[in-house]
Amino acid sequence: MRGATTIQRHARTEPLPPDLPVIITIDGPAGTGKSTVARRVAAALGLDFLDTGAMYRAAAAIVIDHGMGEDDPEAIVEKVAHADLHFDWSADPPAMLAWDKPVDDRIRDADVTGLVSRIAAIGALRQHMVRKQRLIGHQHPRLVTEGRDQGSVVFPDAEVRFFLDADPEERARRRAEQLRAAGRDADEAVILTEILERDRRDFANVAQFIRDMGGPADSGAASGKPEPGMIVIDTSGLTLDEVVDALVREVRARVLHD
Ligand code: C5P
Repeated sequence: MRGATTIQRHARTEPLPPDLPVIITIDGPAGTGKSTVARRVAAALGLDFLDTGAMYRAAAAIVIDHGMGEDDPEAIVEKVAHADLHFDWSADPPAMLAWDKPVDDRIRDADVTGLVSRIAAIGALRQHMVRKQRLIGHQHPRLVTEGRDQGSVVFPDAEVRFFLDADPEERARRRAEQLRAAGRDADEAVILTEILERDRRDFANVAQFIRDMGGPADSGAASGKPEPGMIVIDTSGLTLDEVVDALVREVRARVLHD
């Protein structure tokens, strides 16, 4: 009987039919594992995977590495546009390129993580990124995309929109584990403070952008909450496999009526 129960608990993982366009968005705060989950869901369903955080991180790395101040938004947007940020889709996960050079090794560094929310506050830069992301959506119409604003701002008509959540303490613990696994030092208390500060800034950025675009000031996204119609998955206490299974099952149910 246990075997039968286990089989039922696992979602079917065959790819979706190749001719079916489907955009799946995953929003939510920092450290919920959005990126890992999105990548795994994309692999399970045979879809492309877009890490929008990598684009904002690349912009922050450009600002630091070109010795630019934060106080000249126009110069920043011009420099980032010049870098022609794009992905090499033949790599798994797709590699982030600036001036045609891979930047993935650089963009996870602590100085980039420390700056990125402030760079992502620049409205004109967000507009630039939103345009690029919608273009990617046209070119890759079978896509799992993750980031703070993907379901609320960039792809509000996506077929399935998720909001991944978790307790802040659990998110800090996971991030610390990831860093330790990568051979880096990690202090959970410091990480928790950083995560809460990054959430506050990130959701304020999205809220400001929504207001600038003439949208409602009190939308879910503006307060760091899910929007109506989003499927909320609280990942606290769930393993990565369980979270991926839950998303795959929801997508199949909604797209294929499985
Ligand atoms: O997801 P990740 O932690 O890599 O994102 C890095 C930062 O990029 C976020 O903290 C946020 O400041 C910014 N970001 C954003 N909108 C997105 C994705 C990321 O503002 N869609």
